[in-house]
Amino acid sequence: MKELPLSKAYQFIEPGPVVLVVTSLHGQPNLMAMSYHMMIADGDRPLIGCMLGSWDQSFETLRITGECVLAVPTVDLAPKVVGIGNCSGIDTDKFKIFGLTSVTAEKVKAPLVAECLVNLECRIADDGLIDKYNLIILEVVKAWIDPDREECRLIHHKGNGTFTVDGETLDLRDRMVKWSSYVQR
Ligand SMILES: Cc1cc2nc3c(=O)[nH]c(=O)nc-3n(C[C@H](O)[C@H](O)[C@H](O)COP(=O)(O)O)c2cc1C
Repeated sequence: MKELPLSKAYQFIEPGPVVLVVTSLHGQPNLMAMSYHMMIADGDRPLIGCMLGSWDQSFETLRITGECVLAVPTVDLAPKVVGIGNCSGIDTDKFKIFGLTSVTAEKVKAPLVAECLVNLECRIADDGLIDKYNLIILEVVKAWIDPDREECRLIHHKGNGTFTVDGETLDLRDRMVKWSSYVQR
């Protein structure tokens, strides 16, 4: 084994698909790209841990409003997702610039993104780790999926501007003997 610089460790821990964090302040919606997230609980009260940098306008808005939408884009949106993650809502109307359509959400003021496969309406469930790690625990309070979409492949950031696209599916359901409840979902 050759030593790996510590700064590269994160490139090998798949954090899940890149998502868009949608926030809204005083009726002005904004978007950012986010790949530092993890499921903390599933079932009827899903909890998701999200790391937002304090340099992000979205971080400030999320702290103030306590709510957001996590919109899950597919591979066709990848160039827009990277663009969204490389400019700031302070001086850019990202819905307009990137040609995305906002749709009124049901439980939060931040809008859904019509072009995304899935939209999760979220509220902050726990802010206790924000000061230490910028880690925000979100609770999903409403979830939406576009059932008519043909393109369902998600994108996964490799940590350096390259991405892996969802590919081959392995069906090992018959081995999920301890977790058969997951298989039946
Ligand atoms: C692929 C990708 C993934 C990103 N993941 C994160 C992340 O997990 N957390 C974070 O704070 N910023 C992340 N960013 C950076 C923000 O999206 C970026 O700082 C953005 O410009 C913030 O926009 P805002 O200032 O309008 O909120 C990511 C950017 C890209 C391109």
